[in-house]
Amino acid sequence: MASTEERLQDLRNRKSRSEAGGGQARVDAQHNKGKMTARERLESLLDDGSFQEMDALVEHRCRDFGMDNNVIPGDGVVTGHGTINGRQVFAFAQDFTVYGGSLGEMHGLKICKVLDMALKTGRPVIGLNDSGGARIQEGVASLGSYAEIFFRNVRASGVVPQISVIMGPCAGGAVYSPAITDFVIMVDQTAHMFITGPEVIKTVTNEVVSFEDLGGAMTHGSKSGVSHFTAEDDEGAIQLARDLCDMFPQNNLERPPDKKTSDPTDRLCEALDGIIPDEATKPYDVLDVISEILDDGAFLEVQSDWAQNIVVGFGHLGSHTVGVVANQPKVLAGCLDIDASDKAARFIRFCDAFNIPIITLEDVPGFLPGTNQEWGGIIRHGAKLLFAYAEATVPKLTVILRKAYGGAYDVMSSKHIRGDYNVAWPTAELAVMGADGAVEIIHRKRISGARNAEQERARLTDDFNEKFANPYTAAALGYLDDVIEPKETRRRLCRSLEMLLDKEELRPARKHGNIPL
Ligand code: HXC
Repeated sequence: MASTEERLQDLRNRKSRSEAGGGQARVDAQHNKGKMTARERLESLLDDGSFQEMDALVEHRCRDFGMDNNVIPGDGVVTGHGTINGRQVFAFAQDFTVYGGSLGEMHGLKICKVLDMALKTGRPVIGLNDSGGARIQEGVASLGSYAEIFFRNVRASGVVPQISVIMGPCAGGAVYSPAITDFVIMVDQTAHMFITGPEVIKTVTNEVVSFEDLGGAMTHGSKSGVSHFTAEDDEGAIQLARDLCDMFPQNNLERPPDKKTSDPTDRLCEALDGIIPDEATKPYDVLDVISEILDDGAFLEVQSDWAQNIVVGFGHLGSHTVGVVANQPKVLAGCLDIDASDKAARFIRFCDAFNIPIITLEDVPGFLPGTNQEWGGIIRHGAKLLFAYAEATVPKLTVILRKAYGGAYDVMSSKHIRGDYNVAWPTAELAVMGADGAVEIIHRKRISGARNAEQERARLTDDFNEKFANPYTAAALGYLDDVIEPKETRRRLCRSLEMLLDKEELRPARKHGNIPL
């Protein structure tokens, strides 16, 4: 019979075997790639000394391919909970030094336990992914655990915030857990996500592509829209995850935390009075408008390199977390297209799920014309944006800065789809379409019959602009609550947001709507 001291020593040995992971040589290899280890990442993610590990002694049950002689307690993933700036979160970090971070049955079940606990307690989950995918030796047991994770990710969606940080390979079906979570952060150069790798692609399609071009952070941040943030290194990615958690409530029953500011809520934004160029087609940078309006000019932009014709991100107004959706006149004149619709719709749904009010800054000449867009399904994708705005019951505040043309006027949080506070600047133009197009359609015969066609076209265009290129018809109909001087924008939004914080809006009970995916 072992003595108590021997038993204690046995426990310590088991724990230190778990902590050693795949051994010093593999830890050195990890460091040589510029990557932190799983434990270093968790220590950096969570407040000092707050991490409490779970399941350090879990072992795999595989007896094939010599795996019975290769058992590392913890099974390649470090799981547990801790705090971020004092608020509880759950987290897991895959350990690439143990079987390449590959996901076997027990590794997967450890992640499931974290997801179950997070859902039960209403705490966010942050996953630090660095894995060679399904553990080949464990076969279908590994696939089973993946599916158990996917199911839990879906069940937790809209209940607790879920953030995935990709810090190494994330291949095959393994990508679908991050894809279901709310935000994906990728580390430049070391993170790669793909369904099928370069070798398989070469065999099947003859295409030659590098890991980086196929599924690196830049690719997913600017081409595919899979990733929301790109970080330079592990530390940067972890800091982004912490910043996001500071913005979000712990779960869907709470409001996001306030962030105290000394920026006065009645501050006038003088610079905004001159920001819209006199020439209607001249662009300006809507990011300048956003930073003028938000507390301390601080804006955390989401997907800054993808679908840049629309800007989305988080900030604060009068200390309250808000989500901002803004057309960007600098890119494609701020037109809505397939990617912009998807980007904004997903962002709006996150805000609505987690009680984050939505501020919309509108300057949109319409949907982007072209066969690419039509055949790509702009009808279906644009409908997602309309659906997301109409479905959202959080406070919705809209400022029309300049153009609000056509269907895009309706879609961008208009009064008709239940915007709560809708105002426009005097530079706003609310019309079915721009003057040039409109005059061409309704006055074609008159122009072609005129003695001086060009003069007649110019006169009719001026008339049209006079009548429609302003906000006053909409204000007269009550579609706008007011027309305001641009410099007043922050003050008006802060006051209206304060008024709307306790807003309640109910929708008919249903299983779920059928958003046009
Ligand atoms: C078991 C694995 C593994 C895996 C890597 N390893 N991937 N073990 N199952 N899937 C092990 C290696 O044997 C090696 O062990 C260690 O991890 C490190 O791997 P290396 O190849 O030496 O590292 P590196 O050169 O950095 O390459 C990393 C890699 C590569 C790109 C991830 O290992 C790779 O291509 N792995 C296979 C990826 C893959 O095809 N996975 C299955 C995808 S399908 P030692 O002992 O030598 O250190 C999938 C389906 C999911 O995941 C379905 C869900 C629905």
